[in-house]
Amino acid sequence: MKKKLIVGNWKMNGSLAANESLVQALRAGLSGGAACSVALAAPAPYLAQLQALCAGSCIEIAAQDVSQHEAGAYTGEVAAAMLRDFGVRYVLVGHSERRQFHGENDAAVAEKAQRALAAGITPIVCVGETLAEREAGQTEAVVRRQLAAVIHVNGRCISEVVVAYEPVWAIGTGKTATPAQAQEVHAALRAQLAAATVHAGAVRLLYGGSMNAANAAQLLAEADIDGGLVGGASLKAPDFLSIIAAAH
Ligand code: PGA
Repeated sequence: MKKKLIVGNWKMNGSLAANESLVQALRAGLSGGAACSVALAAPAPYLAQLQALCAGSCIEIAAQDVSQHEAGAYTGEVAAAMLRDFGVRYVLVGHSERRQFHGENDAAVAEKAQRALAAGITPIVCVGETLAEREAGQTEAVVRRQLAAVIHVNGRCISEVVVAYEPVWAIGTGKTATPAQAQEVHAALRAQLAAATVHAGAVRLLYGGSMNAANAAQLLAEADIDGGLVGGASLKAPDFLSIIAAAH
């Protein structure tokens, strides 16, 4: 059976000192091991620090974004190969904050996923509907379109990805999708994958959006929820450790 995966998304938070005490507390809490896989997505300048802090632990390193280009004159961008140099195992692509504030469209997200895979990094493909889209009954159409853009490439299906369903209205708002609402979308995503590849069962589908210590166990008990992408609650060691403990 595939292990669940819990990823902490620090977003644009942290400092050398705060990161060190957070990771030390997580390492202490995980000294007996974890039943699930655990990764932390730090801002790019802290990846080297995170690599050193997590060495010899079960915590893997994730990045929050990657360039859609391989190398060259792209000021401010970070290439997948550079992330790989710092031991990055996963990278978020298409987070709604990137789609919303940086104009990333489905095509750009697909290119980012390709760059990551080419560098040996697993993309965590974020999909999710806005409140207006949900209210208009478009949830499934939106997430299916976002996923299709990444997995259908030149007539073949890319299944070496993690998918994170993050309803935009639930991110950072304290409004979580109910386990049933999340499961409904996850089942639709699984069916979409199953229609495209025999490996659909092995793809991990994470839920994200105000996951916390109190609601994680119920969400993670759903059949097609294979882990979580955790923002706010990943900045507090006890909360993040409780979520990890709920993932087995
Ligand atoms: P949140 O963020 O847990 O703070 O809602 C999740 C995310 O955006 O990845």
